[in-house]
Formats: sequence, C-alpha cells, structure tokens
Amino acid sequence: MVTRLAALLSHFSGILRYSTMAVQVPSVTLNNGKKIPIFGLGTWKSKPGEVTQAVKDAINCGYRHFDCALVYGNEPEVGAAIKAKIDDGTVKREDLFITSKLWNTFHSKKLVIPSLKESLTNLGLDYLDLYLIHWPMGYKEGGEKFPQDASGKVLYSDVDYVDSWLELEKAVSLGLVKSIGLSNFNKDQIERILEHGKIVPVTNQVECHPYLNQKKLIEYSLSKNIHITAYSPLGSPDRPWAKPGDPLLLEDPKIVAIAQKYNKTPAQILIRYQIQRNVIVIPKSVTKSNIESNIQVFDFNITDEGMKILDSFDCNGRFLHLNAVKDHKYWPFNTEF
Ligand SMILES: NC(=O)c1ccc[n+]([C@@H]2O[C@H](COP(=O)([O-])OP(=O)(O)OC[C@H]3O[C@@H](n4cnc5c(N)ncnc54)[C@H](OP(=O)(O)O)[C@@H]3O)[C@@H](O)[C@H]2O)c1
Ligand SMILES: *[C@@H]1O[C@H](CO)[C@@H](O)[C@H](O)[C@H]1NC(C)=O
Repeated sequence: MVTRLAALLSHFSGILRYSTMAVQVPSVTLNNGKKIPIFGLGTWKSKPGEVTQAVKDAINCGYRHFDCALVYGNEPEVGAAIKAKIDDGTVKREDLFITSKLWNTFHSKKLVIPSLKESLTNLGLDYLDLYLIHWPMGYKEGGEKFPQDASGKVLYSDVDYVDSWLELEKAVSLGLVKSIGLSNFNKDQIERILEHGKIVPVTNQVECHPYLNQKKLIEYSLSKNIHITAYSPLGSPDRPWAKPGDPLLLEDPKIVAIAQKYNKTPAQILIRYQIQRNVIVIPKSVTKSNIESNIQVFDFNITDEGMKILDSFDCNGRFLHLNAVKDHKYWPFNTEF
C-alpha cells in the first residue's frame, strides 16, 4: 500500500515537472528583420526586493523577453537575475530580448546616450535589444525624475522628441542597441518621427486591452510596418492611483464568463486576445503562480466569435491617462488616436 502510494506520488510529481517545463514562446519579426518574443514580462512596480526572483522564475518557465525602464528603479535587480540565469547555463544572452526606455528628464541630445548607458550598466549588459522613448513629453532636466514646483505641478522641458529620436538612431550605429522604438506616441507624433528620422520605429508600446483596444492605432501602425506592444494588458490593477470602485478588468463578469467557457483564467484570456491580434504583450507579475500561468496561452485558441466579443468591450477605458501633465505640448492623448 505504502509503496503503491509512493509510486503514485512519484508518477504525479513527474507529471507536475512535465507541466511546468519551459514554454516555447513564438516570435514576431520586426521591420528590421530582428525577432521579438510576442510575450514578455513587465517590470513596472516590481519591487527591487521581489523582481530578481520574479525574473528567475520567469526564465525558468520560458519567458525570454523582459520589459524594463530606467524610471522603474529596479534595473540592477532585473540584471542580477539575468546574470544568474546566464551563469547557471539556463539561457545565453542571445536567447534573451531586453527592452529599456529613455525617461522624460533625459530627452535632450547630450543626455540620451549617457542615459542609455546607465541602463546598460544597471542591467549588466553590453547591448539592449530594444530602446524606446518612454513618453513624448520632456520634463525638466538635471534633477529629480519627477521634477515638481512647490505646488506639486510637474516641471517641463520643451525638448522635441524628434531630437531624442535622432540620438536613438546614433545609439544603433554605436552598437548599444539592436532596435529602437516609441512608447505612448499618437499618430501625428509617429508621423513626425517618420518624416524626420532615417529609421522606422520597430514598435510603439501603448496601453492596450479590451477597454482600449487601439484598433485605429494598430491599423495605422501596421500600414507603416510598426508593431504594437500592449502594456497594462490586465488593466494595471496595481497602478499607484487606482481607487476603490474603479473598474477591474480582471473581474469584469463578461471576461470572467469567457474565461470559464475556455477553462482558462481571465488573465490568460486577456493575454491570448493580444497574441491572436499579433500584438506583443507584456503582463507584469512578481507572483510565481501568476508568472507561470500567464505564459500558458499557447495551447488554445479564442474563436473568431470570441475575439469579436472581446473587441466589443472597447470604451476608451484608459487607465494611464497622465492627466496631471495634459497641458504639456506633447501630451499624446488629445487626438483621436
Ligand atoms: N511604456 C509605458 O509607459 C508603460 C506603462 C505601463 C506599463 N508598461 C509596461 O507594461 C507592463 C505591464 O503593465 P502594468 O504593470 O501596468 O499592468 P498589468 O500587467 O496589466 O497588471 C499587473 C497587475 O496584475 C497582477 N496580475 C498579473 N498576473 C495576474 C493573474 N494571472 N491573475 C491576477 N492578477 C494578475 C499583478 O500582480 P502580481 O504581480 O502579484 O502578479 C499586478 O498587480 C509594465 O509592468 C511595464 O513593463 C509600460
Ligand atoms: C490555433 O489556431 C492555429 C491557427 O488556425 C492552429 O495552427 C493551431 O493548431 C490552433 N491551436 C490549438 C491548440 O487549437
């Protein structure tokens, strides 16, 4: 009896080991021929004390794409995990796709490449796979990352993001980064980059989920060979300004019902939704069980009908509007898309 139980248990643990084996994440080919895993891990709000373990757990179950930024304040701790997983032989640098972003207080020509190099030092890397302009708006340079006056009003710079872009192009020729792109740019702002730059951005990383499905921006971007990367795909429930009573995408009864139908979690449905639209998606998690289940999205298909239902939830439901800086001349959300 005892031995049969032991055999049964060992059989089970074998199955468990098998079921947690690394998932193979498909890639998308960018307009410069480079490949990016269509799914990756976000790191905004991941505390320095928890992100190293999160990135290690993620690499162990198949994540190869990591979305970072200088302003997240945790690049050294992300870098520690990358180093540990390269040192223990789980991955090689070339298996990984690492993104970082230029913060708003470093937009002027002389600060762009030094700031990129600071991210490289933080992450312990000698090149990035992708570098993005985090936002089109510049903030006052030379001090705090969120410079404010006495009343708490954010202080601006008027640096033109086109000038920052030309420095990103230089960083490519210096070999510091393989691909460059944008984040939070609207159509008119992308048009200005295309008009003045030599390199077409590989992606524009924007908020995207069923409440803000970005259909028009996606159509426009694809016509220019620019991929969309979906941030806050789960509705960013841990955004710092969330208030009790705000809509919770992950608990929307319509999404929960779809998840039940597929025997998947709401998060898996929200992630799979983007993958089936060919949108790159980067959910954040520091919780091992969420990290492991969020990647289990390559073993099922949402039907065309299901995709149409998810599309129909669109309601201009933006969670990251940055209304506090809406009087900045480059605030991106004052146009249709
Ligand atoms: N370019 C930009 O301006 C910009 C702006 C926003 C975000 N981003 C990037 O996009 C990433 C993702 O966006 P986000 O962090 O705003 O929000 P998100 O990925 O939509 O949501 C993250 C939240 O969802 C929770 N969560 C994750 N998996 C879950 C699951 N399976 N079930 C229930 N809850 C789950 C996380 O908690 P746990 O950690 O406990 O799992 C966390 O509270 C960011 O981390 C960042 O890398 C970029
Ligand atoms: C999902 O659909 C794709 C494309 O139609 C197909 O190749 C794939 O086998 C399907 N996957 C599953 C798990 O049904």
